[in-house]
Amino acid sequence: MKTLSEESLLLPNPLREGLVEERIPEPAAMVIFGASGDLTRRKLLPALYSLTRDRLLPARFAVLGFGRQVLSDEAFREEMRHGCEEFARRRPVDPALWAAFARNVFYQQGAYDDPAAFRRLKVRLEEIEHTLGLPGNRVFYLSTPPSTFAPVIRSLGHANLAPKPAPGQPFSRVIIEKPFGIDLQTARALNTEVHDILDEQQIYRIDHYLGKETVQNLLVFRFANGIFEPLWNNHFVDHVQITGAETVGVEARGGYFEQAGSMRDMVQNHLLQVLSLAAMEPPVAFEADAVRDEKLKVLKALRFIPVSDFEQQVVRAQYAAGSIGGKTVPGYLSEPDVSPRSTTETFVALKLFIDSWRWAGVPFYLRSGKRMPKRVTEIAIQFKEAPHLLFGKRGETIRPNVLSIRIQPDEGIALNFGSKLPGPAMEIAPVSMEFRYGSSFGVEPPEAYERLLLDCLLGDGTLFTRADEVEASWSWVSRIHQRWAEQVAAGRTTLDSYPAGSWGPDAADRMLAADGRAWRLP
Ligand code: BG6
Repeated sequence: MKTLSEESLLLPNPLREGLVEERIPEPAAMVIFGASGDLTRRKLLPALYSLTRDRLLPARFAVLGFGRQVLSDEAFREEMRHGCEEFARRRPVDPALWAAFARNVFYQQGAYDDPAAFRRLKVRLEEIEHTLGLPGNRVFYLSTPPSTFAPVIRSLGHANLAPKPAPGQPFSRVIIEKPFGIDLQTARALNTEVHDILDEQQIYRIDHYLGKETVQNLLVFRFANGIFEPLWNNHFVDHVQITGAETVGVEARGGYFEQAGSMRDMVQNHLLQVLSLAAMEPPVAFEADAVRDEKLKVLKALRFIPVSDFEQQVVRAQYAAGSIGGKTVPGYLSEPDVSPRSTTETFVALKLFIDSWRWAGVPFYLRSGKRMPKRVTEIAIQFKEAPHLLFGKRGETIRPNVLSIRIQPDEGIALNFGSKLPGPAMEIAPVSMEFRYGSSFGVEPPEAYERLLLDCLLGDGTLFTRADEVEASWSWVSRIHQRWAEQVAAGRTTLDSYPAGSWGPDAADRMLAADGRAWRLP
């Protein structure tokens, strides 16, 4: 089999010839803070390697890992190679290509709040840039615990490593991992700290759901097709369900999850981002601020859940022992680093309203849970029933039309409708018209991190969250946390339980049943 040689990295790719949009960034260096952590090995380096394999990175590109652990360049490269072998989309790793890529991968040890370590980092970075002929364009990736975000950014500022943008000068951009704050107050405080050093346009707050192909396809589906948008409103839509279900438990992240819970871990970021794309008005352009302005309007239009309706609109629960796929799994309270008296939620279901002309009166039901029977993320738009059924009793099998957008796995879109059963009688059966990514395009969608790293290098912030968006979503979510805290203070917790391997507590079903509806079985 032909392998890619080092030189071929620099040659034009004939398959890409004639493509209108060559999205190759300028030569740059990427500094990864938290380089000895899991995310770097599982996601970041594999994404950079796959981008190199697809010839989407500039030929001159360097990675400098920074972490507290003492590691040589060689040891870091070896570790990253294993990560790529296990997790890169483009596998097996091509030895010649890896050798060329890894030659520009380096490691530097240091603490995140040590000015001397940042001075050494600067010297090292400048040396690398000089040797490789890089123009000084830099991306700093904060893959570190949230408590270090502000200290790292301050240290970058003191070392003058990330100057504000100026015409004709190289760029400095900073990618910040989640969680961005743990409530409205902390998110605001972090925004203030970050804005002391950086301009908003230098800041890339990452939410990896926005890097998923299917999430982006939501925009194409809605705004590149003429037939759906006229139906996308309260005249035609009965309700919307958004599900983010996982089979995994908290794995080795009990310590983190105890503080987060599903509301902070999945809803505040991923599900509210998906919701805002599904519900937003058409932006005036497919540009970062135009898209983010429209998403922001949705987040700002989320109606705060009144205390009087709180228990009908918010359900939270924790998994007990159960079984998934025939395998017995322990309950949350038996997970490592979890308090045996924990009241952290691993499941949340919500009914919410968007106070806008488009969505007035349309409930959005969201649910997210760990240890569900199946891993599935989807948006289901359920349309209103036909106003008058012509088919009498035979029409009883007619179900409302549902458009389901499958974000993962089996990425695709399905439209359910009623069809006449073949035969002399007027019998009706539900059928489905489906589009599947895999079979239509014959390729696996790229990893979310590939797209997001590339976009940041290109200076495109469309798929990253802006300061005001983050604050708007925390503002809504923090009210729910506040109410839970009040309930706990009053000695009554509303935490339900569900067996691992089920679709959540009965209370979540009752929430929809009260409205004459039911959760879809995805
Ligand atoms: C992360 C959460 O942000 O998203 C995890 O911290 C969760 O708890 C993960 O498992 C889900 O991401 P994905 O891409 O597997 O749906």
